[in-house]
Amino acid sequence: MAAVRGVLRCALAAAVLAAALALDNGLARTPPMGWLHWERFLCATDCATDPHRCVSERLFVEMADVMAAEGWRDAGYEFVCIDDCWMAPTRDEHDRLQADPKRFPSGIRKLADYVHSKGLKLGIYSDVGNKTCAGFPGSYNHYDLDAQTFASWGVDLLKFDGCNSGSLELLAEGYRRMSVALNKTGRSIVYSCEWPFYLRPMQQPNYTEIKQYCNHWRNFFDVYDSWSSIKSILDWTALHQGSIVKIAGPGGWNDPDMLVIGNFGLSWDQAVTQMAMWAIMAAPLFMSNDLRHISPEAKWLLQNKEVIAINQDPLGKQGYQITKDKNFELWERPLSGQAYAVAVLNHQEIGGPQNFTFSLTFLGNGLACNPACSVQQILPASRDWGVYSWVSSLSVEVNPTGTVLLKVVAL
Ligand code: GLA
Repeated sequence: MAAVRGVLRCALAAAVLAAALALDNGLARTPPMGWLHWERFLCATDCATDPHRCVSERLFVEMADVMAAEGWRDAGYEFVCIDDCWMAPTRDEHDRLQADPKRFPSGIRKLADYVHSKGLKLGIYSDVGNKTCAGFPGSYNHYDLDAQTFASWGVDLLKFDGCNSGSLELLAEGYRRMSVALNKTGRSIVYSCEWPFYLRPMQQPNYTEIKQYCNHWRNFFDVYDSWSSIKSILDWTALHQGSIVKIAGPGGWNDPDMLVIGNFGLSWDQAVTQMAMWAIMAAPLFMSNDLRHISPEAKWLLQNKEVIAINQDPLGKQGYQITKDKNFELWERPLSGQAYAVAVLNHQEIGGPQNFTFSLTFLGNGLACNPACSVQQILPASRDWGVYSWVSSLSVEVNPTGTVLLKVVAL
């Protein structure tokens, strides 16, 4: 009996310790949404020749203005995020990071105030090593000071990159230390990591640990404005779904990188695929595009309430691929209210629309449509498909490289 009590005490102590170690900052209960400058604006620092597109306070002020005025904030995109290349080449006389004085003459504190006045939040970028990926000062050896600086400026999110970390031990230690440092500031700051991506070539990431420190984390290469990039992210995710899907949930998300919809590289069907699949994957939704010049179609897709509701579903479960059959992939994501989001992706890059027929018993381990269900099409256009019984099949027509996104609700 005493031995059993001892074991119980140990188990209890271990449970308390595990709970204490979890990243419990109360943030990112659903995948964060916003705008991030990197994919579209990269490291453009020459404001003399290109004032409209260089990484400067003007870019973020203009983006915040548009986000508040044109429905982006109201659709849920709340973070305006600065990526690499915002800094001056050196720290200031107190060893603090400082913004480039020419490109950010008012400073980050003022920019944060402005962004907050629009009902939005500000994100910033730093790196675990001694230099960022683009060669600006990194946070190595300055984790506490940098966290305090960001908090004192009123920053709401930190994207923490993993270039130039020195070693795998220093990489892991740096990601942990910055997480603790951010929490110590007392300010709510979403912590966006790339820890598993930089670890992976050498070591299997320990996702249980990563989730204890980060609100979301990149696993794979940077997204580009191209179909081959979107395809490679989806293929990688399907290949690794056994290890990454179960770990995602409120407070911690796999991050397949930015939405590039509204730029130059994706066709309409490919843009639909990115939006649908980022919703299935419970991905953080950070657009990297120019919201000042965006087509009405891209705006409609990015602001689509029904697809955003799937992305933001409160159950917080990431979706997964159920089957791959010739040119088609069938994915599902369990949603609250006994519902499932279902995506049918046609990856054939030749010919025209193709039909995919599947039994509804495939979905939700046979439970999604038991004994019957209603089926609503969300993308590429909203359409009510009516009620189906458990033994029915669905036949879905999908354009090349496109996706049909459905919501299936058990009745
Ligand atoms: C890395 C990251 C990108 C971006 C750049 C900036 O490549 O993965 O998302 O932040 O650095 O230099």
